[in-house]
Amino acid sequence: MFMAGMFDLDATIIRNEIPLTEKFMPQNLLHREGQMQYLASCLKPVVAGRTPRNVFLFGSTGVGKTSLLTWMFEELEDTTDNVKTVYVNCWQNTTPHAIVSKIVSDLKIFTNPKKQTKELLEDLNAYLSRYDKKMILALDEVDRIQDYDILYDFTRSGYGLVLISNDEFALIDVDQRIKSSLSLETVEFKGYTVNEMFDILKDRCDHAFMVGAITDPLIKIAALNADGDARVGIEILRKAALFAEDESKKIIDKEHIIKAKKDALHLKTSQILGTLTKEHKILYNLIGKKENITSTDLFAEYKTITTTPISERTYRKYMTQLVTLRLVKADGDVRWRNYSL
Ligand SMILES: Nc1ncnc2c1ncn2[C@@H]1O[C@H](COP(=O)(O)OP(=O)(O)O)[C@@H](O)[C@H]1O
Ligand SMILES: [Mg+2]
Repeated sequence: MFMAGMFDLDATIIRNEIPLTEKFMPQNLLHREGQMQYLASCLKPVVAGRTPRNVFLFGSTGVGKTSLLTWMFEELEDTTDNVKTVYVNCWQNTTPHAIVSKIVSDLKIFTNPKKQTKELLEDLNAYLSRYDKKMILALDEVDRIQDYDILYDFTRSGYGLVLISNDEFALIDVDQRIKSSLSLETVEFKGYTVNEMFDILKDRCDHAFMVGAITDPLIKIAALNADGDARVGIEILRKAALFAEDESKKIIDKEHIIKAKKDALHLKTSQILGTLTKEHKILYNLIGKKENITSTDLFAEYKTITTTPISERTYRKYMTQLVTLRLVKADGDVRWRNYSL
C-alpha cells in the first residue's frame, strides 16, 4: 500500500539546516577579531618564507578555537604557495607515530606507513625541503598527546606550531627544555558574553530559519542559556526548531527553547566526557551517584571498583580537569574538598 505524501516533510521553521550543523563554516566569525589579528601576526612571517611564531590557543569548549584556526589555514593556503598547513586532532591521534602518519598522509607523501616515527619524519622533512615549503602544524586537543617529546622534534624541524586545548594548563607537565624551544605565544578565548552570543545565534537564524520563525527575545533566551558556548547555543536553536516542527508550529516559542536547552546541555556533557579517559568517566559516574562526596572518599571508592589503578597524583590531575571542564563542581579547601555534579 502506498499513501501519497507519507514522506512529505512539514518544514514549517527550517529553511536550510546546514547552518545549524557542525560542519558549517560561517563566513564571519563574529567577535573574534582580536584573536584573529594576533594569530595572523604570529603566522605571517611564513608568507615571506621565514619561521612563524608558535602559538597556544586555549579556552573552554565552543568558543571558536577550531573554527578560527580552520579559517586562518584556508586563508594562508589561498594567500601563498610557500606554505602547507596540516591539522591533526590529538584525541584521534595520540601517539607521535599516529600524528606523524597523519601528516604524511594528509600531504600525500609517498612512503611506507609501517616505518618508524623517526624515518617518517625524515621523509616528511625531505619532502618539505624538496618543494621548498614551510609547514604550519595545528595540534588540536594537544593535552591528549601521550609523549610531548615529539614537539621538540617538530620545532627542530622548523615547523610552525599551533597548539590548541580546552585546558589552560595543558602544557604544565611539558619538560622545561621543550617549553623553551617552543617559546609559545598564548591566546585566550573567553566564553562569549550574552550579547556576543546573541549576534552569533541571530546570524545562524537568518541563514537557517524561515522569515519570522523566531523572535529576538527568544534568541536572547537561547543566548543566555548557551552559557558562553556557541556549540550549545546552535544546538538549542536546532532542537527548538525541531520541537516546533513536530507540533507543526510556524513559530518557535519559549517552551521549545527551554526543552531544547536541557537536551543541548546533556549533549555537551556526553560530548566532553567522550573526549576523556575511561577513568574520568568512572569518577564522574561515582560523583553522580552521590549528592556530594569528599575527595578522600571518592578516591577510596574508585580504588574498590577499578581494574585500572591510578596514582594519587593522576587522580588529582583528573579531578582538576573535570572541574576545569565544568563537568564537576568542587568546594571546600584543598584538604577537605567536596565534589558534586
Ligand atoms: N565567533 C563565532 N561566530 C560564528 N560561529 C561560531 C563562533 N564561534 C564558534 N562558532 C560555532 O560554534 C561551534 C563550535 O565552535 P568551535 O570552533 O568548534 O569551538 P571550540 O574549538 O572552541 O570548541 C561551531 O559550529 C562554530 O561554527
Ligand atoms: Mg575545538
